[in-house]
Amino acid sequence: MTVTPGAALAEGPDRPFVVAARRLVTCDPSRASAADPLGVVEDAAIVVRGGAIEAVGRREEILRPGSDLEVAIEAAGVVTPGLVDCHTHAPWVGSRDAEYAVRMAGGDYEAIAAAGGGIVASMRAVRAATTDELAGALRARLRRMAALGVTAVEAKSGYGLDEAAERKQLEAVAEAGRDARLPRVVPTYLALHALPPEAGGDRAAYAGAVARSWLPAIAAAGLARYVDAYIDRGAFSVDEARPVLERARALGLGVRVHVGQFADVGGAELAAALGAASADHLEHVAPEGIAALARAGVAAALLPVASFTLRQEPPPVAALRAAGVPLIVGSDANPGTAPTESLPLALALAVRLYGLTVAEAVLGATREAARALGLDGVCGAVRPGLRADLVVWDLPHENAIVQPWGAPRARAVLRDGALIAASG
Ligand code: NIG
Ligand code: FE
Repeated sequence: MTVTPGAALAEGPDRPFVVAARRLVTCDPSRASAADPLGVVEDAAIVVRGGAIEAVGRREEILRPGSDLEVAIEAAGVVTPGLVDCHTHAPWVGSRDAEYAVRMAGGDYEAIAAAGGGIVASMRAVRAATTDELAGALRARLRRMAALGVTAVEAKSGYGLDEAAERKQLEAVAEAGRDARLPRVVPTYLALHALPPEAGGDRAAYAGAVARSWLPAIAAAGLARYVDAYIDRGAFSVDEARPVLERARALGLGVRVHVGQFADVGGAELAAALGAASADHLEHVAPEGIAALARAGVAAALLPVASFTLRQEPPPVAALRAAGVPLIVGSDANPGTAPTESLPLALALAVRLYGLTVAEAVLGATREAARALGLDGVCGAVRPGLRADLVVWDLPHENAIVQPWGAPRARAVLRDGALIAASG
């Protein structure tokens, strides 16, 4: 297979082509069963037209004798939907390598943050960067994510910590999001992440400015689809976050929240009350919080790279599963707690450390992640009507996707039917 990133696989926009796969993981609920939660089709063919999936089926049904459909890709291994990373802090610049070394030698993440390092160190780097520099760093990061099989990425601000710098991060996200040769991008305004030094420790005043002025301006500029808040010990309380998140809802934006990374301070209940799209981290959440998430249909975004890096115990995955909370898996890509860009690495850790099944992990990085990002009519599964976001893996089976630690194994990555990454 000779391929060039960015090249169209078809000559004209309406000329269909076929991706044939020895094994296709559709993640299509209409094909799934208890025995086959991923809706697998063996010896499959996918017809792509105008960037969308037109038909999916067994090869012999699609490529009938006399059909003039052209097979553009013959995949000897497994094909899946493009991976969807539901939680990243991707628009960052700078490096916190010194902090990492201190932490690995026993330094405490929360203590470093309280002493003006951590998130505030990234704030200094982001404030010093231009929009172009931020967008350039983000584009490079998104390109590397695409090479790992990722075709959609949620990207949070949260390292600006004042209106201008938060907007600058979101403008960089918008700029990178205009590039069709990169993964599609879902912008989130991480409105409450940490307190900048100039706030003088006044969390209530800071949250008030966010709710009254920064958030409405960012919403009016169309720079965010979701608003996030870090609700935790040492971060923001439920009472500080609630007015900001309620304002977000009133402005027509979705809500997603960092909850229970270090302590359960009631964030899961707030996420449920606000109908959040996801509650993320959840290393610390009580049975009442889990029940509230389940009742409200809020997905749990599991971020195993962060808890691995912080040497934490896993979240109560069995209880979340038993309650029927949808499980999604994200990379949490950030320069502090999750210094990675790899969603496949997060999937490997979700299986190894959190006890997810391979099917749960794959659904949590495709269909369930797409649903939690409001992309369920767009991507996350291989079924007619959705965009042709696909990964051709250099691997025989989906079980193998969670095994190769650190090595990129996506052979061809398609977004809207066009190659955005290829290897080999
Ligand atoms: O998801 N918990 C807060 N936010 C990030 C870490 C941010 C940082 O350390 O830069 C997280 O882990
Ligand atoms: Fe995060």
